[in-house]
Amino acid sequence: MTNKLVLDHISKVYGDGSTSVKVLDDISLQVKAGEFVAIVGPSGAGKSTFLSIAGALLSPSSGKISIDNQEIQNMSENELNDIRLKKIGFVFQSANLIPYLTVRDQLLLIAQLDGKHTKQDEARADELLERLGLGHRRNHYPEKLSGGERQRVAIARAWMNDPEIILADEPTASLDSERGRDVVQMLADEVKRSNKSALMVTHDKRMLDLCDRVVYIEDGKLFEHEMSV
Ligand SMILES: Nc1ncnc2c1ncn2[C@@H]1O[C@H](COP(=O)(O)OP(=O)(O)O)[C@@H](O)[C@H]1O
Ligand SMILES: [Mg+2]
Repeated sequence: MTNKLVLDHISKVYGDGSTSVKVLDDISLQVKAGEFVAIVGPSGAGKSTFLSIAGALLSPSSGKISIDNQEIQNMSENELNDIRLKKIGFVFQSANLIPYLTVRDQLLLIAQLDGKHTKQDEARADELLERLGLGHRRNHYPEKLSGGERQRVAIARAWMNDPEIILADEPTASLDSERGRDVVQMLADEVKRSNKSALMVTHDKRMLDLCDRVVYIEDGKLFEHEMSV
């Protein structure tokens, strides 16, 4: 099976000298096509740092990253922008929607970053919105939507450019457990449908049965099993 994402011996140190803190200590992880992996760990454990490194938003202090079989450590800022735009979809804790764009235009904006949006992009936006149960909301502005709907728009937007990997940082944090589960179920369904990959940081253990694999980050290390009780 092909690996969509490979993180190889990643370490991250913030600061330098006596004030430096090693947040990640020699972490390796591979995510395969069609795989949905959850990352669990206490607050401050380095989960967001790890996800930012996986998404080429942050450089590691050491280690290698390969995204869709391309090593990124020696890439220029332009090349990295291109990778982020074409290969990765991000979903954050709050949906970060643009207040003055309709639901459909939030998706089309992503297509436009890559040039002018086409009829095909419009069809893809409509299809994604339909599939995520947002068809009736497509001409609405974010302020008219519920929290769960906003987060579903964020997920549809993340899929818009047909990325190889979705990276989600606590996507259910602002939702009640039922809405949260809907959102994670949609992530899981899309991963299977398109044979893409997703890596999700979550606090909510009730979501973990929807993932293929769970890894734990604690004290800068990654474990395949939970360490503390
Ligand atoms: N830019 C930064 N500079 C210095 N320390 C940071 C920075 N970002 C995060 N940290 C620290 O690194 C640790 C891990 O942070 P983070 O990755 O956000 O953890 P998590 O997402 O698991 O809560 C925390 O102690 C945090 O304070
Ligand atoms: Mg975090």
